[in-house]
Amino acid sequence: MEKDNRTREKFEKDTRQLFHKLHSAQAESGYIFHRLTSLLSTEYLQVEKDFFSGKVCLDAGCGSNANATYAMLQMGAEKVHAFDLDESIFETAPSMLREFEGRYALKTGNVLEIDFDDNTFDFVHCGGVLHHSADVLQGLRELSRVTKSGGILYVHTYGAGGLIREMTTFFREKYFSDDSFKALVDNLDATRLRTGIQWILSSMRDHDDTMGDNVPIELIEEMIDNDLVLTIKDRIAAPAYHEHSEEVLRECLEKEGFSKIDRLTRYPHLKNVRRFLSPLYEQYDSELARFLYGSGLIQLKACKDV
Ligand SMILES: C[S@@+](CC[C@H](N)C(=O)[O-])C[C@H]1O[C@@H](n2cnc3c(N)ncnc32)[C@H](O)[C@@H]1O
Repeated sequence: MEKDNRTREKFEKDTRQLFHKLHSAQAESGYIFHRLTSLLSTEYLQVEKDFFSGKVCLDAGCGSNANATYAMLQMGAEKVHAFDLDESIFETAPSMLREFEGRYALKTGNVLEIDFDDNTFDFVHCGGVLHHSADVLQGLRELSRVTKSGGILYVHTYGAGGLIREMTTFFREKYFSDDSFKALVDNLDATRLRTGIQWILSSMRDHDDTMGDNVPIELIEEMIDNDLVLTIKDRIAAPAYHEHSEEVLRECLEKEGFSKIDRLTRYPHLKNVRRFLSPLYEQYDSELARFLYGSGLIQLKACKDV
């Protein structure tokens, strides 16, 4: 038991350390932070424009730049409570949220044992956290518990299956077992990637293949940016990316007293090469998306029964 606790502590410490690095880098870019804060909107959540006014909300696993906390406050939430695994969040989140002083409360906490009473929050947000935790369904039960009767729980978590997932799982396992691959990923940056492409184009030119000359440098720079590098590191270097099917998550929510559960979707507006994937992210049910991403990113909005 003690060993299990120590293993979980180490796993959570490693998870937080990685995300602190990635989130701090995201926070340094006005473009990335704006992209992240724009993800959560009343339109996406399919609620009234003034939905957040007067609401007491939770952002569970807020991350170091607390972008969803920021979005909820910007949309008029009365108060947002936010937590993540350790104190590293205090190095960045308060400066991101400075315009909302007095309307948010930040603390350390764990989604597997949420330090709030039952039925506390009008709206609970938990984005991209559960699949990095030690127990997705325990986290979901805890999030359900602290959502008020009549309140809304929003959660997004990794689905199961798909070719791209199989590839990223392979890379993740390699990252944790092969030091030279780990160093390659850790040292990856946009300049290195762009230099690699330039090298390919110049070698093509040397062999009289001038097709590469039709690719403007600005396009390469737009397609391969720091946002892309941070995403690659997230997918490969995270200690865990648990996969669950939509059915399992729904079943758990139904047991916890949520009968109205909607799967949401959105078209992410990206600048880099991932923009070619946006149609697949949005239309998760299409044949190609199912083949590549299995059940896709599962984004659920669930209303707790009164
Ligand atoms: C991909 S980031 C998402 C951060 C933020 N929710 C967002 O949407 O940008 C995952 C976050 O989950 C946090 N996390 C992982 N396991 C957790 C747990 N058991 N309890 C609380 N937070 C956890 C990590 O520290 C990390 O900040």
